[in-house]
Amino acid sequence: MTCFSSADESAHYGFSVCMLLEHYRAQLGWEAEGVVELGTGDATAIAEVVAGLPDLRVRSYDISAPSIEEARANISARGVSDRYTVELGDFFDQADSAGGPRVSTVISNPPYIPAPDRDILMPELWGGVFGNDLVLQLLKSDYDNVITAVASYSDPVTTVRTAEDLGYRVANFLAMGLDFGTYSSEPKVREHIRRLCADGHGWAGDDEYMVAVALFTRNPDVRGDRADQLLNSLQITE
Ligand SMILES: C[S@@+](CC[C@H](N)C(=O)[O-])C[C@H]1O[C@@H](n2cnc3c(N)ncnc32)[C@H](O)[C@@H]1O
Repeated sequence: MTCFSSADESAHYGFSVCMLLEHYRAQLGWEAEGVVELGTGDATAIAEVVAGLPDLRVRSYDISAPSIEEARANISARGVSDRYTVELGDFFDQADSAGGPRVSTVISNPPYIPAPDRDILMPELWGGVFGNDLVLQLLKSDYDNVITAVASYSDPVTTVRTAEDLGYRVANFLAMGLDFGTYSSEPKVREHIRRLCADGHGWAGDDEYMVAVALFTRNPDVRGDRADQLLNSLQITE
């Protein structure tokens, strides 16, 4: 087992989380509550965000032991161990049983690799057959604000429409084009992605896809709904 490694993707995730937390600071209430995170990885991107936002506290979980080890070293090197804590375990088991008041905001660059089964390069990145199992589970976990990466090849229409059914609106998002990396390029995964997209479950180019980091919210103080713009940015035409 290794640690997730994709520098551009992690940087986009960190930058976008920072931008969305800053932009909606007044409405989200994270200064008082902190936020939780599904999937720490090596923690570099969010450690930078924590360093840049002195009022931010993050409680993060990852199922990968090597990731947690690397994350703790990276967090410590950036001097934010007091405000960015990481624990080994399944987010869905741990976050709810952590005690204390429940926070309203969760952040995540979740596993979103679609494949027929979990037998892929890094099994922890498997997002189910359509790639969006974990983001759907997150949306069903009753957080008022879900800041999450949404990939263009992981059935984003189902993700966005499920979010709508659960009462969420897309407040805003930051989208970026990414080249297929180590995990999407695995032949079994690449072929599966090609088939999913041909069947109308997403978009990917020959060697590229889009990822947006979006704020899904049920907070009435955050106005508007950019769900259609989000899907457009992911190259989806319904
Ligand atoms: C795409 S990586 C993102 C890592 C990091 N946030 C980043 O952007 O660099 C997803 C991470 O989620 C972890 N993960 C997968 N399922 C999980 C679960 N149920 N609970 C917590 N972490 C999980 C994986 O081990 C992996 O490190």
